[in-house]
Amino acid sequence: MRRVFVAGGAGFIGSAFIRHVLRERRDAEVVNFDALTYAGNLANLADVSADRRYRFVRGSVTDAAAVAAALAGCDAVVNFAAESHVDRSIHDATDFIDTNVRGVHSVLTAAREAGVARVLHVSTDEVYGPATHDDARSEDDAFRPRSPYAASKAAGDMLCHAFAETHGMGVVVARPANNVGPYQHPEKAVPLFITRAIAGEPLPVYGDGLQVRDRLHVDDNVRALLLLLERGEAGEAYNIQADNHHTNIDVARAILDALDRPHDLIRYVDDREGHDRCYWMDWSKLRALGWAPTYDFDRAIEATVRWYAGNRAWWEPTVRAGAFRGYYERQYGARLAGAQPYRAQ
Ligand code: DAU
Repeated sequence: MRRVFVAGGAGFIGSAFIRHVLRERRDAEVVNFDALTYAGNLANLADVSADRRYRFVRGSVTDAAAVAAALAGCDAVVNFAAESHVDRSIHDATDFIDTNVRGVHSVLTAAREAGVARVLHVSTDEVYGPATHDDARSEDDAFRPRSPYAASKAAGDMLCHAFAETHGMGVVVARPANNVGPYQHPEKAVPLFITRAIAGEPLPVYGDGLQVRDRLHVDDNVRALLLLLERGEAGEAYNIQADNHHTNIDVARAILDALDRPHDLIRYVDDREGHDRCYWMDWSKLRALGWAPTYDFDRAIEATVRWYAGNRAWWEPTVRAGAFRGYYERQYGARLAGAQPYRAQ
């Protein structure tokens, strides 16, 4: 890999991946192609913006011509570009279909026409639908997506397999679990809970808070992604999981403890519609390539809390902006008005 085209590189995981590649591969160049929608932020890449091996091109994966132009001369492609927030897909899935399905098609088509040897597409554990420790999902298991977001990601994932089979392309699909770490948009549960706790505001926990998610630190995830880009088998998918499974209520409490705030800031609010109870994957295929996570649950949450506490200038403008306040009111206004108080469980 000499020059890698990264779609969606200004988002949370994409920007972590770019920082990682530029640090770990001294001969690599990166073209970051990003539409800079509400979740993309070039401040995530302030550390590398002056690096001569890094170039930013503003554009959307839904614009096939723009993708093809920006991708020219690249020999590897990584696609992070996605609408990623499940709650927003419940309100309106239009952008999810555009970016997560049509966008994947444009990236695959441009990569094929340019003769790119390696394409890594970043999918999600949510394509499998609910699963448990005793019934963990392997890469060849059926997709049973239950949210419009997960359905759109499943469609993009399947397009990758179709292009690998039909056109013999070197496409690899990664299916990571729930990521935590620096630069995640404050709409997501972990940064939302942290930023609310710092402000002394209620933490809205959906339903009974006993839903389970793995908490994979983004630094571990991007190590796995680079490994898959370089060594994943063409046409194959790989699950990425840290085995840091905890309930949402555990996460809320761990955040409050790390910030020395009382647990009674927690509020139980009306549940997410179609909320998946738990995800669980078998990741032995990735383990066989030599990857292992380095962050356990406590360290992943503590490091994330410390980062948000020390980087208020990064997130405060976002949570104060009208667009986020409007979203917050629509998503949580009525929910918080009818919330139940915290009970130890
Ligand atoms: O598992 C991978 C997925 O992780 C990615 O594919 C998605 O793009 C990413 O957004 C994330 O999806 P989740 O739905 O798991 O993330 P979210 O942070 O929205 O929610 C995490 C859990 O916390 C979930 O069970 C819902 C719950 N939750 C979420 C919010 C926003 C709450 O209890 N309260 C909240 O306010």
